[in-house]
Amino acid sequence: MRAAAGLAEVGRVLLVTKEGLSESNTAYAQGGIAVAMGGEEDVALHLADTVAAGDGLVDARAAAVLVEQGPRRVEELIGWGTGFDRYGAGDAAGAETARVGELMKTREGAHSLARILHANGDATGREIAVSLLRHVRGMARVELMEWATTVNLTVSTSGDGAARVVGATLLDAAGELHAVRARAVLLASGGAGQVYSETTNPAVATGDGIAMAYRAGVELMDMEFYQFHPTAFAMEGAPRFLMSEALRGEGAWLVNAQGERFMERYHAGLELAPRDVVARAIEREGMNGVVYLEMRKAGKKLDWKARFPGISAFLAEHGLDLGRDPIPVRPAAHYSMGGIRTDVHGRSSLAGLYAAGEAACTGVHGANRLASNSLLEGLVFGALAAEAMVEEQGSGDGEQGGADAVALGAVEVKDIEAGIAELRALMWRDAGLLRDEAGLRRAQAGLVALRNRQPGGMTRRALEARNLLTVAEAIVQSALGREESRGAHYRKDFPARAGVARHSVVQRGELRFIA
Ligand code: SIN
Repeated sequence: MRAAAGLAEVGRVLLVTKEGLSESNTAYAQGGIAVAMGGEEDVALHLADTVAAGDGLVDARAAAVLVEQGPRRVEELIGWGTGFDRYGAGDAAGAETARVGELMKTREGAHSLARILHANGDATGREIAVSLLRHVRGMARVELMEWATTVNLTVSTSGDGAARVVGATLLDAAGELHAVRARAVLLASGGAGQVYSETTNPAVATGDGIAMAYRAGVELMDMEFYQFHPTAFAMEGAPRFLMSEALRGEGAWLVNAQGERFMERYHAGLELAPRDVVARAIEREGMNGVVYLEMRKAGKKLDWKARFPGISAFLAEHGLDLGRDPIPVRPAAHYSMGGIRTDVHGRSSLAGLYAAGEAACTGVHGANRLASNSLLEGLVFGALAAEAMVEEQGSGDGEQGGADAVALGAVEVKDIEAGIAELRALMWRDAGLLRDEAGLRRAQAGLVALRNRQPGGMTRRALEARNLLTVAEAIVQSALGREESRGAHYRKDFPARAGVARHSVVQRGELRFIA
């Protein structure tokens, strides 16, 4: 949506979403948006924290662009009506330095200071999505097409063999196919948490953009780095609802089944250690992977229900009180650091194709994303991608060649669902938090078997099944090739970091490593 806002200044934009426009990982983001609003020193610290969390693999240029341009983009968002939480009279009296009306800031894991802005307590992403949507809806040149699944990219190849994306094929809610021509295409389709059986992501996060780019021959980067959020709600039969890192930022402890605070044994940063460290500690400490968040242990007095209204309401539905009860939590797939390889202007390896946000991989997060950097990423790199798209737009003409063939024909819904469930379970078991060669080879064999009996069919769910399989294969291939442990990628058989940090790239079935 941020890119669309930029593009619509100069031309027509078609914004296509698989469900309603606000159904995305953005809208579920709770904790907030990390941004250094306090001047140069603040920006330098934000950069240092981003680089440190990324465990040697952060692209320094991308990270510098993110933290330096972040404040401007957040100011712009505030100008468009985003209401971040601010200190009121009562709050300001309690806070040491805050003044009435000043933006409230929280700390999260691996941040050296409090710099996370939030909205409506724990509904930051929704506030941002809604205000951006309102802004974009008001732009006459933006046309919206909701409930439409993108089937594939349309690639045109000129006489000299140069390929360019010139549009896409869309499947609407009525099952009608539409061929759309475009001067440039941006994939902002988010992550692929649904590739794992345990995930905080909504059902729409099936890696569609990443998969269709890959099928068109585009480079994917760092696909083995999937971030597992340490604290998703863990009750049998309940969704893996996010228990925001901001809870720990406000002082909550993690305790095991014996009631012991265990993070002291793993990292000096305790509950606010980098996310990958906390997630693996929980996996090791937990009874069936489950430990507890304890708000009662927080050093400060806080009205937990007022500060976290969404989380409190969710817990109340499950008979729990945020301020009173230990909350069962476990890690769950949360964010893909890998994705379509792009530069900071969203340019992919294929002319005419751009990507931004979680679908893209600029290298800004390295091997482990710093908490709350992703809402900022969408804004900063969305805006920059729009600039490049305007400058480099093609004609939208050319010989049409489908980027990939789509099998038609009837298919049993139950076969699709069984295949997806099998894929998600095997990915969690064998390509999840703790990996080794034997498990990854088992996962690879399972994926080959699934590909051999992959159902065809031109339905949203059949297309999603196909996309999940493509993304899972790229994750496993990259994870097998990375014989070291770094950030979110932990190999029990290679527990140390390799001397030199390199990015993995997969393209047309081949894996290579680059500086
Ligand atoms: C959270 O609120 O814990 C999620 C923030 C993030 O994933 O960056």
